[in-house]
Amino acid sequence: MSNKRISLTRYLVEQQRVDGHIPSQLRLLLEVVARACKSISQAVNKGDLGGVLGAASTENVQGEMQKQLDIIANEVLIEANEWGGHLAAMASEEMDSIYVVPNRYPQGEYLLLFDPLDGSSNIDVNVSIGTIFSVLKKPEGSIGVSEQDFLQRGAQQVAAGYCVYGPQTTLVLTVGDGVAMFTLDREQGSFVLTKENVQIPPDTKEFAINMSNMRHWDAPVKRYVDECLIGKEGPRGKDFNMRWVASMVADVHRILTRGGIFMYPWDKREPEKPGKLRLMYEANPMGWLVEQAGGAATNGKQRILDIQPGKLHERVSVILGSKNEVERVTAYHTGL
Ligand code: AHG
Ligand code: MN
Ligand code: MN
Repeated sequence: MSNKRISLTRYLVEQQRVDGHIPSQLRLLLEVVARACKSISQAVNKGDLGGVLGAASTENVQGEMQKQLDIIANEVLIEANEWGGHLAAMASEEMDSIYVVPNRYPQGEYLLLFDPLDGSSNIDVNVSIGTIFSVLKKPEGSIGVSEQDFLQRGAQQVAAGYCVYGPQTTLVLTVGDGVAMFTLDREQGSFVLTKENVQIPPDTKEFAINMSNMRHWDAPVKRYVDECLIGKEGPRGKDFNMRWVASMVADVHRILTRGGIFMYPWDKREPEKPGKLRLMYEANPMGWLVEQAGGAATNGKQRILDIQPGKLHERVSVILGSKNEVERVTAYHTGL
């Protein structure tokens, strides 16, 4: 990378102009999402001073108690995106159904999906949290816009990313041309390119899973983790380290930075649910980022990006990160 500072704006203009990767409407959309993330970052930073911490007294469609910041972040993303003319509709983890761009604004051809605030349990304890987003194109020829238009496989995404609000605020993005990271320069108020062509090492000695659920796991996951825990003396022949932030953004950010494997697998707590994490707001965007960085993402049986969603708020089992490790856990599931 040259020593010139490259802003997100310039990066996107070049993706559009030089490389022809993104149309201008998509560029605008990504700029607006980044602006919304800046505002959310401000709110997160203020914490108690901004009166944004603590629980709201509402539940979301998935029966989870909402935090004030879940609702604030959702509103910021909607207000920032509804008027620009680039979107047809939005869908969010925090809304029961899709939000169609109101008639008073022009309708564009893109669909935006987001987890406005990921890692809600970490908000009040001052641990990294984030926003995850995914962009789809409205299917050709569909009139108006409906929930059906959103039910596309992750492989159809045209852009995906997240913004992590940690010691630094970092926006991580793919438009299908590798993964780039941008750090927020608070004095300038802009995101500056700080890493390009991010690569996840294929092997790792670090795994991330909520160990308190061990007794509920399925045999293949238990086998994988048991083998990690035996370390040098076991079949893996090396010692493993464990990390679990409980904010997917932070765990995935670590994996994009230094490798590792992240698992939130199906378990026996609520056997009828395919997993805890959401396919459209969490697994698909993170799965694509990880693949774009040379890693892999599966549900234990198939590639996440190949799953045909049946409904907007669908949940999924997630195994992602360093390629050889993800392939190993997947092979333990499929018996191959
Ligand atoms: P959200 O805050 O958007 O509901 O997502 C939380 C998710 C994810 O970020 C994290 O990996 C996982 O839930 C943590 O779950 P546990 O508390 O069960 O470990
Ligand atoms: Mn989440
Ligand atoms: Mn959330």
